[in-house]
Amino acid sequence: MLMEAQSAYRTIKVQPQETGFGAEVTGLDLARPLAAEVLAEVKAAWAAHAVLAFPDQPLTLDQLEAFTLQMGPFGADPFIKPMPGRPNVLELRREPDEKATNFGAGWHSDWSFQPEPPSATILRSEVTPPVGGDTLFCDAARAYEALSPTMQAMLAPLQAIHSAARPYGTKGIFASETAGRTMQIITSPEAEKTERHPLVRTHPVTGRKALYVSPVYTVGIEGLAEPEAEAILGFLFKHLTQEAFIYRHRWRPGMVLMWDNRCTMHFAEGGYDGHLRLMHRTTVAGEVPA
Ligand code: SIN
Repeated sequence: MLMEAQSAYRTIKVQPQETGFGAEVTGLDLARPLAAEVLAEVKAAWAAHAVLAFPDQPLTLDQLEAFTLQMGPFGADPFIKPMPGRPNVLELRREPDEKATNFGAGWHSDWSFQPEPPSATILRSEVTPPVGGDTLFCDAARAYEALSPTMQAMLAPLQAIHSAARPYGTKGIFASETAGRTMQIITSPEAEKTERHPLVRTHPVTGRKALYVSPVYTVGIEGLAEPEAEAILGFLFKHLTQEAFIYRHRWRPGMVLMWDNRCTMHFAEGGYDGHLRLMHRTTVAGEVPA
């Protein structure tokens, strides 16, 4: 059973967000190895709330890596040059004078084109702009549960096709939009590979079902003609991104955010031209979606 009430937590304070999706977690220090009971409660809160914000966590990169490894082994991050000497840390940096679209500016679940996409992404804010730069999350489990039983039954046997081609392919967005980007993105024919995953996946910890598609990485549905797949996916993307399923995360410097890619999508909003935004990101390996 999931621990949803604060009384269920002995070592940490878990404050659910007002949207009923996501929570803020305080009363712990992520810079040190977490005691077994604290780690178990963090994992329980993460299962219950999917997006956890830990404010005021001044972590070094070593400490960010160490916290990540307490959640599981690192995931593999393709197509983006990692930080020098830190193969598992990405620096998401956008300079004040950058004109290129900000990284992550489309709804997606991280690396869903991989055979085993990451379970968690962990993002720490170093420098946050005074305006804009929010990250939006959608609750793909609640969105699934809001569908009619007839629609759920129709979606149940479908396999969605995922690919990194749209952003990272040789004709992808990043291949044509290279001007003045600080982050080093590696476009490649590798990105054109496809992977199929259940369109509705079951969370391995909670058993909850969630829609597992995104406008950035889902390129079709197995066995359906393109216009048929487009109609279904178009409906699902609109359904998923309704206000009722969204949590808007407003950053402050020194926050750690950990989200579950198995039951959420996210979108990095821009709106901070003229200001530096600097984040460090790691991923935790996941499993074959089922
Ligand atoms: C991402 O990981 O997609 C970017 C999130 C962000 O920069 O807010």
